[in-house]
Amino acid sequence: MSSKMKFVRSLMKTAALANVPKHIDHYSKFSPSPLSMKQFLDFGSTNACERTSFVFLRQELPVRLSNIMKEINLLPDRLLATPSVHLVQSWYIQSLMEILEFLDKNPDDQSVLETFVEVLEDIRNRHNEVVPTMAQGIIEYKDAFGQHDTVTDHNIQYFLDRFYTSRISIRMLINQHTLVFNGNINPAHPNTIGCIDSKCDVTEVARDAYESAKLLCEQYYLGAPELELRQMNANDIRESIHISYIPSHLYHMLFELFKNAMRATIETHEASRTLPPIKVMVALGGEDLSIKMSDRGGGVPFRKTERLFSYMYSTAPRPSIGDRHRAPLAGFGYGLPISRLYARYFQGDLQLYSMEGYGTDAVIQLKALSTDSVERLPVFNKTALRHYKLSLEADDWCVPSKEPLDLAIYRAAK
Ligand SMILES: Nc1ncnc2c1ncn2[C@@H]1O[C@H](COP(=O)(O)OP(=O)(O)OP(=O)(O)O)[C@@H](O)[C@H]1O
Ligand SMILES: [Mg+2]
Repeated sequence: MSSKMKFVRSLMKTAALANVPKHIDHYSKFSPSPLSMKQFLDFGSTNACERTSFVFLRQELPVRLSNIMKEINLLPDRLLATPSVHLVQSWYIQSLMEILEFLDKNPDDQSVLETFVEVLEDIRNRHNEVVPTMAQGIIEYKDAFGQHDTVTDHNIQYFLDRFYTSRISIRMLINQHTLVFNGNINPAHPNTIGCIDSKCDVTEVARDAYESAKLLCEQYYLGAPELELRQMNANDIRESIHISYIPSHLYHMLFELFKNAMRATIETHEASRTLPPIKVMVALGGEDLSIKMSDRGGGVPFRKTERLFSYMYSTAPRPSIGDRHRAPLAGFGYGLPISRLYARYFQGDLQLYSMEGYGTDAVIQLKALSTDSVERLPVFNKTALRHYKLSLEADDWCVPSKEPLDLAIYRAAK
């Protein structure tokens, strides 16, 4: 490329970048459109129309990206200024710009549709490392400004829950489009539409997740607890349990729960020769699909249960960013919070009930019906804005005199 061309290119790029805030303002005024599992399935089945999907996505993706980019901008300045958060932000801007390029393209032109699939694949790859990079940003921020600040912690927790949910949803849209329209039908999985399995075998996924966690656990601790798996299909007791779901999401949640249950079991039974098994019960009713995983790993005090879902908390030694790919059994402390987001993404939930001194039950609730499984998406509006503006106010319940350390801050503020 001649130097003149290069200069013109860079001028155009700068001009386009200058328009970014305007685009974000524009698209964040729209609410994202949540899709149901049934819509995803119908859309990817017999009458799949690539043109319709393209027209939907070139609007919906900028809307979802812009809604969350507005919230990124509300993070504390010192967090925004970390190199990691900067990097994440630049990925979002670039991806937004790449999709907006398609606004004036003709949906009836086959080559446009093909380029769109390629661009979506590039975007997905670009965002592969968002979670560890963001985690690194939080660590950099905490290391630099270490003091414990309840308001900031609350804001970061609120933001990350929404940011990661948004990311899950954007990847879902991208995966569906690229998998359904790349022309390859997967003969091994006829029930699979994109990344959704209309007959997802829940106990099979549970067994797979157990086996992988067991391998990891054996490498680490030279042993692993056994699995006892039971199921109850209330609709037909002879049938095994199938629901419309994304097997990779279910696998992710169960794998995280198994890793936690195994670590807890082994660490509390180090001295004894036998390990109590991990018991999993899967139940399907008319409305709910529930999975309960029970371990005898000594449990967690009730006071700490909510903290386990915090992005700022893990009892495991912090892994260094360099061995990100080593898949440690416990690491950033993102296992539970991200798994809960996956469960909530289609209107389910994940809860932990612990009996300190004995063990923990982790329960995943999912919707049994594909019409009830609807995306749960963050929207940027006044209510969201208010969360970031939250200041430290006096508690409207009396503070006990022998207060735990973190409540002392409330006192000081009063
Ligand atoms: N079944 C359990 N029994 C006892 N403690 C548990 C159990 N599950 C989770 N915990 C506690 O909750 C903490 C947070 O769990 P979480 O899975 O979110 O992060 P982690 O396991 O520390 O790291 P990773 O991100 O690798 O999962 C754990 O460090 C552990 O102290
Ligand atoms: Mg974990």
